[in-house]
Amino acid sequence: MEPLHLILRYAHLVGFAVLLGASVAQYVSGRIRINPVMIWGAGIQLVTGLALAAPIRAEGAAEPPTGKLAVKLVIAVLIAVMVFFSRKRDEVNKGHFLAIVGLTLVNAALGTFWR
Ligand code: HEM
Repeated sequence: MEPLHLILRYAHLVGFAVLLGASVAQYVSGRIRINPVMIWGAGIQLVTGLALAAPIRAEGAAEPPTGKLAVKLVIAVLIAVMVFFSRKRDEVNKGHFLAIVGLTLVNAALGTFWR
């Protein structure tokens, strides 16, 4: 199962790049709104993250802690809700937008440091 795990991990990193990249690019453009690429990124992270929660690692390799999966899932759902339901607004609150970026960075840190 190890190749499947690595492919999913790669897709999870691509999704992270899409979500963070689209958010930062939008922010520096000066118009603070939700763009469609951010919605795609949030969706990719939910799907690939849930798939990574499956026990698909090489024999003997440690599976991720349940607490990490639960916290990451809550944060990812929060991000998905925050981008999806504001997608039609011409502009969103700066705090709302920065919270999306911050939560994305928190979830990436949890994925990296919580072993
Ligand atoms: C916006 C949402 C998310 C972001 C930005 C994010 C980001 C990341 C990043 C950057 C890594 C490090 C990858 C590596 O070390 O190769 C990671 C790992 C991981 N994430 Fe996420 N993640 C998100 C959502 C989720 C969700 C919803 C789950 C599952 C409930 C999840 C489960 C995992 C797992 C299990 C790993 C470890 C990968 C491994 O097996 O090596 N993530 N995440």
